[in-house]
Amino acid sequence: MGKSTHILEAQQFDRPYLDRLFTLATKLADAPKPLLTGKILATLFYEPSTRTRLSFESAMHRLDGGVISAPDAGAQSSAVKGETIEDTARIVSQYADVIVLRHYEKGAAAKAASVSSVPVINAGDGTGQHPTQALLDIYTLTRELPSIDGASIAVVGDLKNGRAARSFVYLLGKFSPKELIFISPPELAMGTDIKEYLTRHAILFRESEHLEDAHSADALYQTRIQKERFENSEEYDRFKGRYIITAAYAADMKDTAAILHPLPRVDEISVEVDDSPHAAYFKQARYGVHVRMALLADLLS
Ligand code: NCD
Repeated sequence: MGKSTHILEAQQFDRPYLDRLFTLATKLADAPKPLLTGKILATLFYEPSTRTRLSFESAMHRLDGGVISAPDAGAQSSAVKGETIEDTARIVSQYADVIVLRHYEKGAAAKAASVSSVPVINAGDGTGQHPTQALLDIYTLTRELPSIDGASIAVVGDLKNGRAARSFVYLLGKFSPKELIFISPPELAMGTDIKEYLTRHAILFRESEHLEDAHSADALYQTRIQKERFENSEEYDRFKGRYIITAAYAADMKDTAAILHPLPRVDEISVEVDDSPHAAYFKQARYGVHVRMALLADLLS
């Protein structure tokens, strides 16, 4: 990838790039270096965030870069006055060396990238994608499993609206898993765009409504039912609490199985699971800083 590459979708990465990025992430995790002195990262967030924004900002600080931040851009930026995302991106790209954008509209990051003079990183565009989450998810798998190639990986929850799950599966398409198991209510099934992509890449997948079908998986990627994407709370209530990983469920998984979750969790993983050897989700969040350090260093140094 070239220097001014935008990070818009998980399919844009290839295996050699991932290998290089993950090696750098591991190196920087142990010994962050002042690689980005004098560079500025702008975070422009039109939707709520804890991990994504703060881990990007933490990553930038750890590399000795500077940060400017609009954490509530939907309410506190000129968007309120009617400014378009393109105009905002044009301006912010004059203030910063990289823009990390989260927006409620699918395609917003691509719009910003089309006018920005600096790299735009998609930190979640509505129900579209969240490619840097996929990077840290896959990095977590590389640390938790002997190999992603040959592994059975279950993805559970709101697969229709969850951009983290969508990007995760797109990136898994670059590997050779034994099979992917998509577990969701039929109404929240994985999109046909992704299923077609997997078929084109000869990745085996099956779909189920039953959490029991994830029992034999080497990794289980649990996700939140995306409340904010439903028309009303009755619609959401139909699906809420449908799939819960309890301590009993976790105890029945393969000894070496890893449970991942992009977080935040609501009730879909019981807190009792947190102490189980299967729980990888807090580590996964920590790896987010390491992977984002590597990404920023690669883009900007
Ligand atoms: C995810 C998101 O915002 O898409 N959160 C995150 O960035 N870790 C997942 C979610 O909100 O369910």
